[in-house]
Amino acid sequence: MTINPHYQDLEQNYLFAVTAQKAAEFSAAHPDKKVIRLGIGDVTKPLCPAVIEAMHRAVDDMAWAETFYGYGPYEGYDFLREAIRGYYGRRGVPLQLSEIFVSDGAKSDIGNILDIFGEDNAVLVPDPVYPVYVDTNIMAGRRVAFSSATEANGFLPLPDPAVKADIIYLCSPNNPTGAAYSREQLKAWVDFANQNDAVILFDAAYEAFIRDDSLPHSIFEVEGARTCAIEFCSLSKTAGFTGTRCGYAVIPAELERGGSPLGAMWLRRQATKFNGTSYIVQRGAAAVFTEEGQAQVKADIDDYLENARVITTALDSMGIWYTGGKNSPYIWLKCPGGMDSWTFFDYLLEKANVVGTPGAGFGQNGEGFFRLTAFGSRKNTLEAVERLRGLL
Ligand code: MLT
Repeated sequence: MTINPHYQDLEQNYLFAVTAQKAAEFSAAHPDKKVIRLGIGDVTKPLCPAVIEAMHRAVDDMAWAETFYGYGPYEGYDFLREAIRGYYGRRGVPLQLSEIFVSDGAKSDIGNILDIFGEDNAVLVPDPVYPVYVDTNIMAGRRVAFSSATEANGFLPLPDPAVKADIIYLCSPNNPTGAAYSREQLKAWVDFANQNDAVILFDAAYEAFIRDDSLPHSIFEVEGARTCAIEFCSLSKTAGFTGTRCGYAVIPAELERGGSPLGAMWLRRQATKFNGTSYIVQRGAAAVFTEEGQAQVKADIDDYLENARVITTALDSMGIWYTGGKNSPYIWLKCPGGMDSWTFFDYLLEKANVVGTPGAGFGQNGEGFFRLTAFGSRKNTLEAVERLRGLL
């Protein structure tokens, strides 16, 4: 037998596993120090009351033969898909129910969607980038090219007609940089994809953090996207579902390649390899889209954005360059004193006992940068900022 040889081409460990390990080793060696974790983008607030109540009711449903649910539909229950359709509709994006596919999160969808594409496709991802886009393609043996995101272009690269791309990854507001594309910039990508028969995989996991009304939340707000884009979204950051797991993909009916509708291929894939998100979780997810749920999750996100403001205000006063933090929970800063990313990671951990994520872990262009998240508690964020002020 043989194993998949492409695993040899991966970095030995997943980025957030490495940083977690380093932080754990530091804590074990210094049990007296309080380490503040602003590294991985994991939420700290509990699920909101509307979600908890809906999930409690769903647990009760499962207790009686009359209301019990076994295997669910592969594409998700209609009650949740209707709720998602309503959410898009209120933003002026009409969807058909059959275009919405519920899942256990955007990370798995973004990896799994590659099943429906040929192995020889040219892949284009921004650099720096969420490591999942690159690693899942390396695992499948695909060639990956990078579009260069730099300080000069505000970490928002635009298409380069000289670079061939069949599958294009975009994430806006971006992980890791927090930068968000304007409508015009996304239109440039949509036009490029349509002209080149490419498909954009658009990661909208952070759309709920957008506070600038001029910025698009969905790629389907851009004309032409229905013939070239798949959108992935998640309730992880929107509603604190990192441990609960629920997300969805939107694949427009018009989106076909090689004569095959991609939505039908995705459903075929899901029916074969996925048995759906649990009924209880889907009931909780549907509650996020109610008026009450929306008000509650917005209050939580506003609170995280206030953490971001606390961090960016401190960086402003220290004269440290950054992007993000306005329409995003991520703050992407330039390491002070010309330090490289991993040196700054170690320095911050040792001297301030604060954990962030080294920019170099997100790609070559991330070298010299560093990511902090706004997902900590207010108390910890304030304390971390005080330690940074004392150190930098
Ligand atoms: C991150 O920190 O980039 C995210 O938490 C990772 C993820 O969503 O999988």
